[in-house]
Amino acid sequence: METLTLALGERSYPIHVGRSLLERADLLLPSLRQKKVAIVSNTTVAPLYLRRLAEPLQQAGVDVLEIVLPDGEEFKDWRTLNSIFDALIAGRCERSTTLIALGGGVLGDLGGFAAACFQRGMPFIQVPTTLLAQVDSSVGGKTAINHPQGKNMIGAFYQPRLVLADTDTLTTLCDRQLRAGLAEVIKYGLIRDLPFLEWLEINLERLLARDPAALAEAVCRSCRNKAEVVAADEREAGERALLNLGHTFGHAIEAGVGYGEWLHGEAVAAGTMMAAQLSHLLGWLDRDDISRVERLLQRGGLPVNGPMLNVERYLELMQHDKKVQDGRLRLVLLQQIGQAVLTEKAPLAQVRQAIAERTAHA
Ligand code: NAD
Ligand code: GLY
Repeated sequence: METLTLALGERSYPIHVGRSLLERADLLLPSLRQKKVAIVSNTTVAPLYLRRLAEPLQQAGVDVLEIVLPDGEEFKDWRTLNSIFDALIAGRCERSTTLIALGGGVLGDLGGFAAACFQRGMPFIQVPTTLLAQVDSSVGGKTAINHPQGKNMIGAFYQPRLVLADTDTLTTLCDRQLRAGLAEVIKYGLIRDLPFLEWLEINLERLLARDPAALAEAVCRSCRNKAEVVAADEREAGERALLNLGHTFGHAIEAGVGYGEWLHGEAVAAGTMMAAQLSHLLGWLDRDDISRVERLLQRGGLPVNGPMLNVERYLELMQHDKKVQDGRLRLVLLQQIGQAVLTEKAPLAQVRQAIAERTAHA
């Protein structure tokens, strides 16, 4: 097991990464304020892993309430959020009860937002079970639900007390979901960690084959990047926005085709190519750079072109992005491979051109 720390002063917390961690009640117990937890999971993950997490806690005398939600991005909404509150109230949870989110990024975002709101904030633990959640969404405290007009529109910054990433859970993940997680892994290399990108170029097939050592290394190196960025800029006043490479385009894709149609990681991959194309139009990336990004995403089995939405529809949806400031679109682009920048200087004509060029062959 490797333990990283997200350094946020008295709200600092450990990120444990390794194998056979679900059963490690000893890692969870020190973070509990009372011997009661509510484990929030879904109909896919609960039958696989809920008992393994719950039983050792129960043996240690912890009262465990189980809340099992429907599975899917389309359930990351008000109605499902409210069903968590109903269950917490019916289960007589208190402000000191800990909410544990067991599942992928949807579960973590929903559970985290519920924890932030319930009785004005209850302790929260992330137990991510997808690659995407282990490398990205479980770390850093962004929690949210979707609005029909925009991804993650309603939410809160609310840090967990602990992240427990058991890489053994990735063995049951389907190939499509594993590949979607790779998009966020590749992102770290592109925005700030060239040595990691080079490592990925060498080791991508090992990751696709679920080599345990390679997966653990990819999760650790991703979490280290994320923890460094969040520690420096928790509320996204600057550097944290760079973690959104490909996301402004990607969120438009997710909302435009309907939540759940394109996986988040798939939309981020296509969005990353749009950002790379625009970076090329601005003279920052050359054609070899574009091919390098495209090749890696393609080797990861990820889409490199967006769906055929009207370009104006893309722009309309992109206007709902949380990085929009004073009505101006701000985009994360690549000044070079391994160095991202947040800019509002991209002319709209070139934004249109980049979108059109990366949807034309979809
Ligand atoms: P997801 O949560 O929908 O999980 C993908 C699918 O895999 C689901 O069907 C899930 O039930 C299933 N699953 C989960 N673990 C499994 C396992 N071990 N074995 C088998 N099946 C398993 O999707 P995701 O890709 O994990 O997360 C995407 C969400 O994360 C999006 O809503 C996105 O907006 C959000 N996100 C949030 C942040 C953040 O910082 N908060 C960052 C990136 C993404
Ligand atoms: N996934 C982007 C962030 O956490 O800031």
